[in-house]
Amino acid sequence: MTGSITRAAVVGGGYMGGGIAATIAGAGVPCVLIDIDAATSQRRVGELLAESRDWVDKGLLDAAEAEVVAENLIAGVSIDESLAGVGFIIEAVPEVLELKHSTLARVSAAAHPQAIIASNTSTLPIGTLAESVTGPERFLGCHWMNPSRLIPGVEIIPSDRTVESATATATDFHRQVGKRPTTISDVPAFIANRLQHALFAEALKLVDEGVATPEVVDEVSRNSFGYRLAAFGPFEVADMAGLDVYQACLQTESGAYGDRFASTPLLEERVDAGDLGLKSGNGITPLASHDPQRVSAIRNQYFRGLTALLDSIEGLEDLRSTPADSVPTTAKDDTSA
Ligand SMILES: NC(=O)c1ccc[n+]([C@@H]2O[C@H](COP(=O)([O-])OP(=O)(O)OC[C@H]3O[C@@H](n4cnc5c(N)ncnc54)[C@H](O)[C@@H]3O)[C@@H](O)[C@H]2O)c1
Repeated sequence: MTGSITRAAVVGGGYMGGGIAATIAGAGVPCVLIDIDAATSQRRVGELLAESRDWVDKGLLDAAEAEVVAENLIAGVSIDESLAGVGFIIEAVPEVLELKHSTLARVSAAAHPQAIIASNTSTLPIGTLAESVTGPERFLGCHWMNPSRLIPGVEIIPSDRTVESATATATDFHRQVGKRPTTISDVPAFIANRLQHALFAEALKLVDEGVATPEVVDEVSRNSFGYRLAAFGPFEVADMAGLDVYQACLQTESGAYGDRFASTPLLEERVDAGDLGLKSGNGITPLASHDPQRVSAIRNQYFRGLTALLDSIEGLEDLRSTPADSVPTTAKDDTSA
């Protein structure tokens, strides 16, 4: 279960799986897309190639990369007939437990015994899905984000039965196709969705309590803390703000909203030790030990660049209002899990 992958497959070539297959193909790795039947797989490949051409026209993709996608994206016939020579398989069928189980059972029976098998599930425990896999030691979660061709992060989720070499190969493979993989523990909703949905649940409460409209919650989120998150994670943000400041904020908030805002031993111990983040030279993350002036210079450069980028995106602000000629659409929202 080591060595570079020379052929991959994606089972379930829908919204996520299609983007995953196109990404892999665009990195020069032949990738077989397998949907419910050969005709559907063929249709999806056609749609993905058309999307690539459209992206070239819009300046989102190099013409050369679109050609690489076209050379390497292959329409499969079926799970049973199309996995020969495939070293890495990503399952991306709908989030229905029974369907995941039956698909993974078929995939693991048809795949080479050394092939790594991954599920792109958003929330289902990998340990549970592993029950239907023949050779569960080569099975793990690989949670890509939507839109899968553009978001760099992928959560790599070994179960307690996954061998280390499978995790290492999955990590190397995702780097090989241009992603930024992070290995995490197998807990419900993993890390990205747990954080994202904690924010969403709190946003729902704000609206439900009559504090703000959804539009106001979104505007405040975008224009304030949301601005930081592409460059700095929540712990780096806390180290910049001051851990004592965050401790005081959580005290007020837990008094008002209850235990979901409670501090934890990690924060209490750091503050008790006088490790308050950037201002004391020690905190939770390595960022706290850097020269504060250097950190602010880099941070300011990022914010300036982000403001310029946002200002340059044509039509973004128009999305905040409903067009007069609006028609109902079934298109999926790009901001979901
Ligand atoms: N949509 C998101 O934002 C998102 C983000 C991250 C992860 N995910 C996860 O990715 C997975 C797929 O989600 P999606 O949004 O791409 O769904 P989707 O409905 O767009 O695509 C699913 C595809 O699977 C195909 N399919 C169904 N049964 C099949 C079978 N037996 N064999 C082969 N193909 C089959 C369907 O025809 C369809 O093309 C889910 O587990 C979902 O939770 C989704």
